[in-house]
Amino acid sequence: MAKSSPIGLFDSGVGGLTVAHALHTLLPSEQLIYFGDTAHLPYGDKSREAIIQYSLGITDFLLKQKCKVILIACNSASANAFEEVKEFVGKRAVVMNVIDPVVTQVCVDTGSVRSVGIIGTKATIDSRTYERKIKETLATLVANSSEISAVISPVLQVSSLATPLFVPMIEEGFVFDDISNAIIRAYLSRRELIGIDSLILGCTHYPIIRNQISRYFNFKVNVLDTAQIVAQDVQKFLSENDLLNSDHKGKGENQFYVSDFTPYFEVIANMFFNEKIHLEKLNIWK
Ligand code: DGL
Repeated sequence: MAKSSPIGLFDSGVGGLTVAHALHTLLPSEQLIYFGDTAHLPYGDKSREAIIQYSLGITDFLLKQKCKVILIACNSASANAFEEVKEFVGKRAVVMNVIDPVVTQVCVDTGSVRSVGIIGTKATIDSRTYERKIKETLATLVANSSEISAVISPVLQVSSLATPLFVPMIEEGFVFDDISNAIIRAYLSRRELIGIDSLILGCTHYPIIRNQISRYFNFKVNVLDTAQIVAQDVQKFLSENDLLNSDHKGKGENQFYVSDFTPYFEVIANMFFNEKIHLEKLNIWK
């Protein structure tokens, strides 16, 4: 694996661009190759088998681009296809997902986190991956440190809620208006989220409405900036494994592909990436 090789990342559509943007800001010397599977959007309503099949197809494409890291920038795919993608990739690249770094952060942060809520697509929430990983991570932390075991006492409460309307709402451009505020209120007032002190945005679309979510909670709930946490985790991994690209000048251009294209995608993509980008249509599903 060469340091100058690109980082490949994918999502069902343009949501993963929130992660791509955080990576681009933190690691400007890294070349990114992004694939948004807009032809199959949304993943959140698909079966586990379908999500695995799509994820493996995209991973194969990213491996052909010689990516050093394949980052699954989609919670639905991270929750349902991470092990399968890892097995498929083997030693050819490093596979990372958007769930593990957030789980670690929440568990290590238990001094302040007492009751955490998770919102995401049906595919993510129904898989119960966050709950399982939080439980496993806490158990490992407790087993490894008596100090942490004192801190996490009494218990870290975890509750989750599927918020399936958020993705189409954001994709349709309802983000800072009365419609989005009404939908946000309808979901966030549900009993599952009563009393939480932290909230995981378990979908890479959601950082777009992070401010509105924080405002709903009167800024009293810590709404975790998941894109930022994931980008920092990638930076840590690359630096610890001597894989950071040090040759800024030799960096290849970032590339952004989608499997289906409407002109509107580019408008939304610019919103997600927070700057102008050019999307190219590439049909890997021939
Ligand atoms: N961005 C995807 C995620 O993080 C969700 C979008 C979808 O349902 O396709 O889960």
